[in-house]
Amino acid sequence: MPESVVDPVDTVTEVPVAVVGAGPAGLMLAHLLGRAGVDAVAVDLRTREEIATTHRAGILEDGAARDLVETGVSDRILRAGHEHGGTELRFGGRSHRIDFRELVGASVWLYPQTEVFTDLADARARDGGTVHFGVRGTEVLDADTDRPRVRFTAADGTRHELRARYVVGADGSRSTCRGLVPERLRTRYGTEYPFAWFGVLAQAPVSAPELVYAHSEHGFALISQRTETVQRMYFQCDPDERTEDWPDERIWATLQARVAGEDGFRLVEGPILERSVLRFRSFVQEPMRWGSLLLAGDAAHTVPPTGARGLNLALHDVKVLAGVLLRALGAEGDAALADYQPLALRRIWRAQHFSSWMTRLLHTAPGATAFELRRQLGELDGVVGTRAGRAYLAEQYTGWPTAA
Ligand code: PHB
Repeated sequence: MPESVVDPVDTVTEVPVAVVGAGPAGLMLAHLLGRAGVDAVAVDLRTREEIATTHRAGILEDGAARDLVETGVSDRILRAGHEHGGTELRFGGRSHRIDFRELVGASVWLYPQTEVFTDLADARARDGGTVHFGVRGTEVLDADTDRPRVRFTAADGTRHELRARYVVGADGSRSTCRGLVPERLRTRYGTEYPFAWFGVLAQAPVSAPELVYAHSEHGFALISQRTETVQRMYFQCDPDERTEDWPDERIWATLQARVAGEDGFRLVEGPILERSVLRFRSFVQEPMRWGSLLLAGDAAHTVPPTGARGLNLALHDVKVLAGVLLRALGAEGDAALADYQPLALRRIWRAQHFSSWMTRLLHTAPGATAFELRRQLGELDGVVGTRAGRAYLAEQYTGWPTAA
């Protein structure tokens, strides 16, 4: 008996592309397809409010920022974002600037992921795109056929079925879509790290003009920003650390110790508005396509946050995927899909390497020996003390051109 008889739905919608996940990757894909006249319906288990208030990374490559403006999402980034022409690496108690503009003629934008999401959700609403937030029980059916379906219960309790030509799994680092690829056909690559980040939002003025990535014998710290009056900071912690054990004074003492140095640099303190522990890992699942299902963004790969690559990588995936899907839905058919993985994967593995390298360069592994700490300082000196080292970091951090 067909499933629809067993489990009736209230609406059946034919749509070229169904997107599972309405974070930045899913919404940007729907936006790019919509601009080309192809409908895409996106669904997400989270409410719009939940996504908009979950703090994530804050750095966008210049190319990604330009894509938001030039494809008509919004030009708010140009007004509300901050362009940074460099960043600081701090170790041995001193800061060393990596000048992106001078080294590789590039810059990055400080523009939180929550703002990127808000711009994309607003653009979808403005352009008449359908996005179902706060759904339950999402199921992808028949992904290995050319008539895949997505079923879900909408926030108002009604049951829906999307009959699509392609389904995109953009459902984040805890993706269920990637689990649809049969185990015998998929390979998962990855590694865990013996530390996590303790992230805070602090009500305080900025402490430094650009981001500060700090290595210290006590562990890593990152000083980022949000607005003139709210700052984002992180410090390396144990993955099992509990936020309840961290009153404001302990957080500030830890952060100050990790950035302290002979130059007398100190963070401007203020009340801690939010605190959370962020675990991370490096992960890639291949293949990124199975039948009519394509994976994009964190669903297919995750990186540690140290190199600020995650969101940028997801946006690159969907830029490539949009082009491939438009060709597939046009004259070329499924054959066009073969281009997706090779075009996306090259950048994914570069970013995997860079993120893992930045992480190991700056964090102190539990039980690290005195040799290891000194070796790290030697490596850091090799990075900041040579033009090739600085240029390498600048080039990787500011991103690479889009795969053709
Ligand atoms: C952030 O601002 O949240 C941020 C910035 C750079 C990173 C990670 C997070 O590498």
